[in-house]
Amino acid sequence: MKLKDKLLGLIGFSVAGLMMFSCTELKEANYQIIPMPLDIQLAEEGKFVLTEGTSVFYPENNEKMQNNANFLAEYVKEKTGITLSPTTEAKKKGIVLKVEENKEKPEGYTLKVTDDNVVISGGSEAGVFYGIQTLRKSLPVVQGEKVALPAVEIIDEPRFDYRGGMLDVARHFIEMDSVKRFIDILAMHNINRFHWHLSEDQGWRIEIKSRPLLTEKGSMRKETVIGRTGKYGGKPHGGFFTQEEAKEIVKYAADRYITVIPEIDMPGHMLSALHAYPELGCTGGPYEVWCHWGVSKDVLCAGNDATLKFIEDVLGEIVEIFPSEYIHIGGDECPKTRWESCPKCQARIKELGIKGDEKHSAEEYLQSFIINHAEKFLNSKGRQIIGWDEILEGGLAPNATVMSWRGEEGGIEAARQKHKVIMTPHTYLYFDYYQSYDTRNEPLAIGGRLPLERVYNYNPMPKVLSAEEQKYIIGIQANLWTEYIPTFKYAEYMLMPRIAALSEVQWSSADKRNYECFLSRLPRMVELYDLKQYNYATHAFFITSKLVQDDNEGVVKVALKTIDNCPIHYTLDGSEPTEASPLYEDTLKIAEPCTINAIGIRPNMKTRIFTQKVEVKAPQQ
Ligand code: ACM
Ligand code: ZN
Repeated sequence: MKLKDKLLGLIGFSVAGLMMFSCTELKEANYQIIPMPLDIQLAEEGKFVLTEGTSVFYPENNEKMQNNANFLAEYVKEKTGITLSPTTEAKKKGIVLKVEENKEKPEGYTLKVTDDNVVISGGSEAGVFYGIQTLRKSLPVVQGEKVALPAVEIIDEPRFDYRGGMLDVARHFIEMDSVKRFIDILAMHNINRFHWHLSEDQGWRIEIKSRPLLTEKGSMRKETVIGRTGKYGGKPHGGFFTQEEAKEIVKYAADRYITVIPEIDMPGHMLSALHAYPELGCTGGPYEVWCHWGVSKDVLCAGNDATLKFIEDVLGEIVEIFPSEYIHIGGDECPKTRWESCPKCQARIKELGIKGDEKHSAEEYLQSFIINHAEKFLNSKGRQIIGWDEILEGGLAPNATVMSWRGEEGGIEAARQKHKVIMTPHTYLYFDYYQSYDTRNEPLAIGGRLPLERVYNYNPMPKVLSAEEQKYIIGIQANLWTEYIPTFKYAEYMLMPRIAALSEVQWSSADKRNYECFLSRLPRMVELYDLKQYNYATHAFFITSKLVQDDNEGVVKVALKTIDNCPIHYTLDGSEPTEASPLYEDTLKIAEPCTINAIGIRPNMKTRIFTQKVEVKAPQQ
């Protein structure tokens, strides 16, 4: 803290005030946040000091802007303890929230800080909200210190319009409060679509009034397989959201500029519905709500008119609950085994004149018939469908948007066919995968290896597509499937900080992306995670080392570091390092073979002990 800065904050105060504040440190905001804004121009001098009662002006008769002002006040209180005063009465000094619709993107904003004002001007109310998120993330966490915002002009806008995060509440039911917590996490990462996976073989999670058995019978399974043991826990598991609760979630998300996109996965992944209504399956059942994971052969019977009516009944109620433009109808992993031997399905194939060819089997074309039926129905209600990339097989429904998960190929093909695409390839964006190669030290995950850096380095614009075709890629999404994630605390660990990397892929311009730079900004984001008591993964904060053999001196030079430059304590005798062990200050020169054990000591975070064996070559003669 420069003395000049301290003094500037004092001008105009009484002597008593001067005495009071002279011992109060002024802490500065830092605009190097996640996701990285498009342009940050720091002024040479000037700052706005946040004080108790600083006004936040918002336009009269604008409920969304009033909410925005309240969010800002809540965030500032949370990080600094300072109480702001939202008001519609313009005063000379304070924080000004306004909408200026001339911005290129409605979600864009500018944030301008001068000595007297902070002005957040959004292309829409959503843009103002993102400006508020930026301000929030820039603030230091303080207790009693004063906070200054250095003078700046930030111009920012998102790279992609569709920025999604999916939560599977079907494999494991997730309660309302945790769903809201998930939405809060999306919001702080500038994510604007919540894809809510609501139906599965293992449980039906949304009330459908015309089909009460879906929740009465389909929302509960008898027990759940334990890890990968093949043994079962013997305890029933279930739950569902009433329509009122789902509407509450829609509102909670909308207040944070997030659209909820519900998914009813069809015609596969339907065992919970088949348990409730066995007549909808090819064999007639009986069926059980599955207690284990995988892909079931039992799916909706595509030859049964009752199935078409079921789809209309369910989707008819879904559109009444969810106002989103898009409804996700699944379409993934639907084995055709039952259809091949089902008289009704085969009769349907005949009736429609479907013929298999070298590209697709007759049954794959039959799947397209089901998806087309769902699309037609939803289009008649003014909605559009999203489907997983299997909906390409058998021909895309005319207006479908494709969610490319098995890789990018489906997305590439759909873009070439001039269909909109959301990229979510599992090898980059499935957050149920392990986040470290050291899987023995990780909680159980479904498989895969998806460290933070890999998420960060995802390039969602395949080079094989022309610039014109790339325009069909409207966004990116990460998915959190919950087969191996029984609690939301567990989910938080799988989400963070990979969701921070995702947010930068979704929001920041491609030429701004740099992993080292991202890591340097991560500690500030994690301060917010700590404040919210989120259970995040700490791999990025582990100690890393650089070893160089110095042949002249006959030593190995070992440099240790962490991304937040926290104090590192080490031992060389194989013992466990503690706070009492020597403090690492500069490169170690190791002359004898040994094992370095080191630990980074932070008040809020315990990370793993770093261990490295060091071999030393004799000096060259
Ligand atoms: C999926 O992962 N089955 C979409
Ligand atoms: Zn059938």
